[in-house]
Amino acid sequence: MNPVLENLLQCPQCERDLEIHDHPAELACVACGLVYPLQQGIPLFTPSPAGLVPSEKIARSPDSGTPWRKANWQFVQKQLTKIEPHGLILDVGAGRGDFAEALRNRRSIALDIYPYPEVDIVSDLTHINPFRRASFEAVLLLNVLEHVFDTNALLANLSRVLKPGGTLLVAIPFMVKMHQVPVDYVRYTEFALMRLGEAHGLSIDELEGYYDPIFFLGEGLGNLHHAVLPSLGRGQRQVARLMLTGIQALAGQLARLVGPGQTLPVSESKTNPAPTGYQVVYRKRE
Ligand SMILES: C[S@@+](CC[C@H](N)C(=O)[O-])C[C@H]1O[C@@H](n2cnc3c(N)ncnc32)[C@H](O)[C@@H]1O
Ligand SMILES: [Zn+2]
Repeated sequence: MNPVLENLLQCPQCERDLEIHDHPAELACVACGLVYPLQQGIPLFTPSPAGLVPSEKIARSPDSGTPWRKANWQFVQKQLTKIEPHGLILDVGAGRGDFAEALRNRRSIALDIYPYPEVDIVSDLTHINPFRRASFEAVLLLNVLEHVFDTNALLANLSRVLKPGGTLLVAIPFMVKMHQVPVDYVRYTEFALMRLGEAHGLSIDELEGYYDPIFFLGEGLGNLHHAVLPSLGRGQRQVARLMLTGIQALAGQLARLVGPGQTLPVSESKTNPAPTGYQVVYRKRE
């Protein structure tokens, strides 16, 4: 087990201490006797959800992936410089360690609902919170909130484990098609993100959108190519494919003219408010 966890965990049921047993490998509550298995040193507080398809490991870097993901890297790297260097960070929904590189020189704990080899602890924080109150300087919630059904339960627990004045960094897609279905539940507007924080003692330090209409256009054209064209008759399909190729070429030219997408505070966005996604810096109230 990651030794950093030893001082952080408590029994989710009665909030008393947990002790480590070797045979069988488990954490046991000293008071109420509840036990939680340790699988290859990873404490499992909740079972993996039925039907969840585990993610493949993908090589990640600040310069790879979609424009949205690149915006996320810039966001995380910039915001981490503002967080106390020795402060403890919880990466919720860390998955296959997609942003682990950004946390390389930091004290951090990776949590997920699935026991990927890259994580330190498994718990669905909408149900079970095994952390002591005010344990973390910062919490990362990157591309996770849209996969959570009971977002209020999650935010309540994240607020609880943050130190007063601590930071919650959220990245959440908005104009992005469904992914990891059927475990994709919500898209929040900026107004809902404000109210969500407010409901859980989190004020907003920064709220920005990543605006990229050309990327959005590309997603739509990709959909046409993969989902619509195959259903057409042969003749229509050939004509449609030609037209689509022309539109894609034009979109490429247009992209060169208008430049890449932009990350902007929502208040400065002059476009129709349709960001690819939002990035939020919440502050736990003192
Ligand atoms: C789309 S992936 C994002 C992974 C990574 N944070 C990123 O941005 O690339 C969503 C992750 O959230 C995890 N997840 C979903 N619900 C969760 C919950 N209630 N608590 C913790 N993790 C959760 C999933 O298992 C998955 O690994
Ligand atoms: Zn207990």
